[in-house]
Amino acid sequence: MPGDGAFEAGEVVLLRRKEHESLLLALSDRPQVLEGRGVIDLSAQVGRRPGGTVEWAGSTYRVLRPGLPDLLEHLKRSAQIVTPKDAQYLLFLGGIGPGAVVAEAGAGSGALTLVLAHAVGPQGKVVSYDRRPEFLKIARENLERAGWTPRVDFRVRDVAIDGLDVGELDAVVLDLAEPWAVLGAAHAALKPGGRVAAYTPTYNQLERTVRAMRETGFDEVRSVELLEREMHVGAGGTRPEFEMLGHTGFLSGGRKG
Ligand SMILES: C[S@@+](CC[C@H](N)C(=O)[O-])C[C@H]1O[C@@H](n2cnc3c(N)ncnc32)[C@H](O)[C@@H]1O
Repeated sequence: MPGDGAFEAGEVVLLRRKEHESLLLALSDRPQVLEGRGVIDLSAQVGRRPGGTVEWAGSTYRVLRPGLPDLLEHLKRSAQIVTPKDAQYLLFLGGIGPGAVVAEAGAGSGALTLVLAHAVGPQGKVVSYDRRPEFLKIARENLERAGWTPRVDFRVRDVAIDGLDVGELDAVVLDLAEPWAVLGAAHAALKPGGRVAAYTPTYNQLERTVRAMRETGFDEVRSVELLEREMHVGAGGTRPEFEMLGHTGFLSGGRKG
């Protein structure tokens, strides 16, 4: 759906009260009840372009089409999610861009699935595996809210046992407890020159994953950790914040020769 095109009924929109509050809501052509919040009528927004306003509960909200940061902020969660800093670097390690065909395991809450679906765009494809159907259900709901389900196939599968049921992939992205157990299947499913990218929270997992990448035949193998330090910007007092997002996980990549 085009970024500036008119809203359609059923589409999920972002209601934003400056930086104080925002919520995602499906556009309905009739008034709808929000649990604990009363009734809101967005029917007049159907057919309008993003950027209008609506008065609700004594405040003015702007009605916008949500972008990736909004979708991640309002993500429904099950498993622990990959942070934006790590997700974006996994895209880089995987060489993932518009039109790419990618497999991912496990889907978890679907945070990384959203980032992948956003990156591959409408011409690309993401096959997202998880062995737990209840997690896939939540991941699918998160993708539905973005309107990106046509780009993603969700499959219940234990990829450590059953491998991947796809081939000719541009990239495989792994965020599960034992990535090393999937590397053989990932290698077989990749095109020549395709890339694998793995997220591992501990040193033990990192070492075992990287050793297995080399043993499986991947080359250009490398690992990084990204530390995110926010800046406090004030007139004459600009400095790093005292607290930072330190360790989250290690990011490793390799290439099928
Ligand atoms: C940390 S979560 C993934 C989070 C996800 N990347 C996100 O950003 O929302 C790990 C997921 O891997 C799944 N998983 C673990 N081992 C698996 C396997 N062998 N096959 C398929 N899924 C697996 C778990 O069920 C869990 O949902």
